[in-house]
Amino acid sequence: MSKVALVTGGTRGIGEAICVALKDAGYTVVANYGGNDEAAKAFTERTGIPSFKFDVSNFEATKKAIDQISVDYGPVEILVNNAGITRDGTMHRMSFEQWDAVIQTNLASCFNTCRAVIDSMRARGFGRIVNIGSVNGQAGQYGQVNYAAAKSGIHGFTKALALEGAGKGVTVNAIAPGYVDTDMVRAVPEEVLKKIIATIPVGRLGKPEDIARSVMFLVGDEAGFITGSTLSINGGQHMY
Ligand SMILES: NC(=O)c1ccc[n+]([C@@H]2O[C@H](COP(=O)([O-])OP(=O)(O)OC[C@H]3O[C@@H](n4cnc5c(N)ncnc54)[C@H](OP(=O)(O)O)[C@@H]3O)[C@@H](O)[C@H]2O)c1
Repeated sequence: MSKVALVTGGTRGIGEAICVALKDAGYTVVANYGGNDEAAKAFTERTGIPSFKFDVSNFEATKKAIDQISVDYGPVEILVNNAGITRDGTMHRMSFEQWDAVIQTNLASCFNTCRAVIDSMRARGFGRIVNIGSVNGQAGQYGQVNYAAAKSGIHGFTKALALEGAGKGVTVNAIAPGYVDTDMVRAVPEEVLKKIIATIPVGRLGKPEDIARSVMFLVGDEAGFITGSTLSINGGQHMY
């Protein structure tokens, strides 16, 4: 039986590339998404990968969905916490709603999903958790106190959970992507994006596949000695 992999926010952008790479490698892949039914339907038609709608910022809904996925497909052995949003604005203009939505969706979601899979991973003596952080969680970014705090939190969360899982065969790592060509980055105004690309030594945006490749490296059976690490994939933009 192939291992079951759950990718949150798996129906678009980086998440889709991760799902496809996992499927191509023989894993049983389940994608989650938050609200865009049309994109999820198109994703499932394109890839043959099932997609489950639940809000990862909601603890109860996430537990219920992951319990159901475990019944339908088997226990989740690989979890990729990829779902994320931005709600940018400088601090003096940011509403509590913008702050809270980003913290809940990008950071609290990692607690919600991990809490739902950790008992079974520990009991089985195997688990691979990969959390998608960001260069902006490492370096900070103007207009993103919410996003930078959430992503920076992911890096601390990763190290603490890695310590707890180390003796139980559960590895926990983070990836900190730089700017990757997805809907999230396409929302950035063109002139701002041009300036950002000028700061990337490799001279281009990342591709979702650049991130998926490193997820594959971290989730393999043979990756058991890699835990608590953050892999920066940013075209040389920020060396941490
Ligand atoms: N793109 C970049 O340059 C970049 C750089 C660094 C880090 N990252 C991080 O990489 C991850 C993926 O980014 P992306 O650019 O691929 O994003 P994206 O294209 O905007 O896709 C986001 C995915 O997350 C899902 N999602 C959003 N809120 C959700 C919720 N509450 N519950 C469940 N799913 C939810 C979306 O579902 P719907 O389709 O239903 O909305 C979608 O599948 C994010 O964590 C992002 O912060 C991205």
